[in-house]
Amino acid sequence: MRRAYGLVDEFLLRTFRFRTRGFLRMQDAPGTVPPVPARGCGCLYVHIPFCETLCPFCSFHRVQHCHRQAQRYFHSLREEIRLYHDAGFRFSTAYFGGGTPTTEPEELVETIELARKLFDLSDISVETNPKDLHPEILEPLRAAGVTRLSVGVQSFDDRLLKDMQRYEKYGSGAEAQDRLRQAAGFFPTLNVDLIFNLPHQDLASLERDLEILRGVGANQVSFYPLMISPGVAQRMADSTGLPDRRRLRQFYQTILARLVPEFTPSSAWCFTRRGRSSDEYLVDADFYVGVGSGAFSYLDGTLYATTFCLDTYEKRVAEGLTGIVVENQLSVGDQMRYTLLVKMFGLGLDREWALRRYGPRFFRKLWGELRTLEWLGAARRDEHGWRLTERGMYWLMLMMCAFFESVGEYREAMRAHIRQELEFPGRLCPALKEVPH
Ligand SMILES: C[S@@+](CC[C@H](N)C(=O)[O-])C[C@H]1O[C@@H](n2cnc3c(N)ncnc32)[C@H](O)[C@@H]1O
Ligand code: SF4
Repeated sequence: MRRAYGLVDEFLLRTFRFRTRGFLRMQDAPGTVPPVPARGCGCLYVHIPFCETLCPFCSFHRVQHCHRQAQRYFHSLREEIRLYHDAGFRFSTAYFGGGTPTTEPEELVETIELARKLFDLSDISVETNPKDLHPEILEPLRAAGVTRLSVGVQSFDDRLLKDMQRYEKYGSGAEAQDRLRQAAGFFPTLNVDLIFNLPHQDLASLERDLEILRGVGANQVSFYPLMISPGVAQRMADSTGLPDRRRLRQFYQTILARLVPEFTPSSAWCFTRRGRSSDEYLVDADFYVGVGSGAFSYLDGTLYATTFCLDTYEKRVAEGLTGIVVENQLSVGDQMRYTLLVKMFGLGLDREWALRRYGPRFFRKLWGELRTLEWLGAARRDEHGWRLTERGMYWLMLMMCAFFESVGEYREAMRAHIRQELEFPGRLCPALKEVPH
């Protein structure tokens, strides 16, 4: 089983990229609230793009934190959330992601409280960094009803943290361990984000991260492969250099071997110990609405994206619009392929569910994809539908990585419009120039 990244991987990725090339072909959108889906449970995704420092490997929409600008931004967020509520949207879960939502703890708590007042939320997830794991932040989040805290650790290896330019701002691996131990038990789920296949990471370093992880009291880990969109590649080439994709399989197998069965897979890269099965809104929610700047929504087969310009975002919300500026109504085939991707990534596709959602045409249209997964031993058919095998987990991890790299590329194209906003180091909330998206 020590075969390297090889021909089958390359074939699957190429076919996957070809078959999903239409997902992000966006057209201008009016920006009014989209129609409320007739059925299903939805997730409210709230994007908070502020960070204390901008890590070179990061492929998300993030800007240097600025207190005044962040306060205005949170105000707009709450307005936009109310707009969706008044239009009839109802959500059963909420996810506060970033950037780093805890850069403004009081604003964050006020926004969570509003979301809880408006919607009957069973789960509330918040992303943070190791430095913010202290009682002054954790207590109010717990009181506000947060059920899952996700901490971006990336690695416990100081050398890699220095490479990632995180050591100075977010602390050493030992400090992250101490803070995690103190945070354990605060929330039903404490998730740790780690990354594998970083430049300079070797098997010994990965094994050490896995060993430490098991002792810090976290009951979930999201172990991401390093996702390399063109902008990330450029930044990394200038600093640490690029990693070798041929190591992915061995790293991934090491992760599975060390985590399972103590941790149970919840998706191809998320593993949970005791309790909760899954926290991936992409997999579980029937639809999701993204509020804020640089957020995506998926509603009844249409993908939407909001403006990446914070100034434009504020103005749009003040005019009674959402942040949405572009949309893509996916073809029926693309909707089904997207469903297959996220469901298989979430470990399985339920036959009855797919029948109710799309009818028998789902199986006719995706006959080739499903047979290929079975033939490769990536999925096994049982009385309920298709289950991902261990071999399949590796391929779905690769495919989801490729999908997020395309999303990263899209983000970079959008962020190119707001260079002014991004290239103002240490700025004091500059008067931002109007930009189209
Ligand atoms: C949006 S960040 C929020 C976490 C928080 N800001 C922090 O860094 O501590 C969520 C996670 O995405 C992951 N991530 C960001 N860029 C990535 C990339 N290029 N490849 C893989 N994972 C990445 C990191 O593990 C990170 O913790
Ligand atoms: S990894 Fe986290 S802290 Fe670093 S830039 Fe991305 S969102 Fe910000």
